[in-house]
Amino acid sequence: MDSTTITLRPPSAIANRLAGQVALITGAAGFIGLETTRRFLQEGARVVLIDLDEEKLARAKTALADISNVEENTLFVRADVTSEPETQAFVDQAVSHFGRLDSVFLSAGLSYSRTSILETDVDLYDKVMAVNCRSAFLGVKHCGRAMKSLGNGGSIILASSASGLRASRGMTAYSMAKFALRGIALTAANELGPYGIRLNTIHPSGVDSPMFESSWPEEERNAMLQNVPLRRWAQPNDIAAVITFLASNDAQYLTGGAYKVDGGSVYN
Ligand SMILES: NC(=O)c1ccc[n+]([C@@H]2O[C@H](COP(=O)([O-])OP(=O)(O)OC[C@H]3O[C@@H](n4cnc5c(N)ncnc54)[C@H](O)[C@@H]3O)[C@@H](O)[C@H]2O)c1
Repeated sequence: MDSTTITLRPPSAIANRLAGQVALITGAAGFIGLETTRRFLQEGARVVLIDLDEEKLARAKTALADISNVEENTLFVRADVTSEPETQAFVDQAVSHFGRLDSVFLSAGLSYSRTSILETDVDLYDKVMAVNCRSAFLGVKHCGRAMKSLGNGGSIILASSASGLRASRGMTAYSMAKFALRGIALTAANELGPYGIRLNTIHPSGVDSPMFESSWPEEERNAMLQNVPLRRWAQPNDIAAVITFLASNDAQYLTGGAYKVDGGSVYN
């Protein structure tokens, strides 16, 4: 079947859906994290941006400078999400700076060039599990504690992947880590639901991003696109829009869910 060129519609008008919220985003200087930060700010939230990379954080600050009142509505913190003391410290800092914690998007993650499990070094495995998975455990633990004691409930969104729902040849460690996020989301959703704390995972397939391009060779990406009914990879705002919805009160009866954001990809 021939594909047709279509014109994408612009993102929906901003509806101030996160007015009054304080949000914390890890990996906030990354491709998806930064777009989500922008969207959250435009929707009225105050945002704490966490990232390991100081230079990327500085670039993120410049990139967001066009948003009104951005200085007073943001807090930039360089921290390592795989460290428990650092995670506890940035959650405490977020709460003491802004006085609340309503939404958390745990976006920090690490991928790698496709490699057979037969050739995957255990040090790479450990690193991938730490950045994608240990960080989620620590983030849910400390953000969950803060939300419980603040007493306003909250929404925690975990950045899984299509690789957290299906086989991803050459990405065993990444896939294991992203599958594990379902375990955290489902179990913690059960434990924390009585405090009004919701947990959901999102599962993007390919996002037009450096991470995707460095993980999959162009030829394979082109072949994979034939399995995407919408015949394009996601743009960062496609992902940020879903995260914003899950953070908003419009999603207040959604917890433990797994949301594919993949253009209807046909998995095989
Ligand atoms: N890009 C895609 O195609 C895609 C598809 C599916 C899922 N995802 C997932 O979405 C998330 C975001 O992806 P992205 O494309 O924005 O990636 P990215 O590489 O652009 O951003 C990740 C950010 O995490 C930060 N980070 C890495 N290790 C850290 C640590 N130890 N402590 C704190 N920060 C750390 C990096 O500095 C970077 O800014 C990831 O979890 C990724 O696995 C991405």
